[in-house]
Amino acid sequence: MARARKLKNPVPSTPESLAAGLLAYQQHCQRCHGAAGDGKGEKAAELAVAPGDFTDAKTMDRVTDGEIFWQISEGRLPMPAFKDKLGETERWELVDYIRTFSRKAPAASSTGPAPHRAQP
Ligand code: HEC
Repeated sequence: MARARKLKNPVPSTPESLAAGLLAYQQHCQRCHGAAGDGKGEKAAELAVAPGDFTDAKTMDRVTDGEIFWQISEGRLPMPAFKDKLGETERWELVDYIRTFSRKAPAASSTGPAPHRAQP
């Protein structure tokens, strides 16, 4: 999906966007993807395909914001599509929020650089 890959995230990761993302996540995503983003939500065991692990920085660093946005918008069975349920801004806020499972949120970085981000 070359086009999705290059989509630019118009919603910067701020405490406000992350708070909105958290709310939407709890409402729409947590039951499958888990409160910790590790793919171990209460419904996960019933699914034919396991949800991804958002805490895995190696995997998450390979996908662009655009690809995450695309996945949320279009879904991929058994994950439903959310483009008719959530507005564009809400979906980008979710992208920002999902990033926090594998990266330090900018708001929290005043305590110093994220220690676990190894240089390639
Ligand atoms: C019914 C359970 C379910 C719900 C609800 C759900 N997902 Fe998923 N999601 C999945 C599954 C299963 C996959 C893996 C699909 C695949 O690999 O083909 C997935 C994959 C993804 C991916 C791609 C990354 C990856 O590891 O494959 C993203 C991003 C994602 N989901 C975000 C979300 C967001 C954001 C929401 C809430 C708006 C959400 N999902 C709601 C089940 C769900």
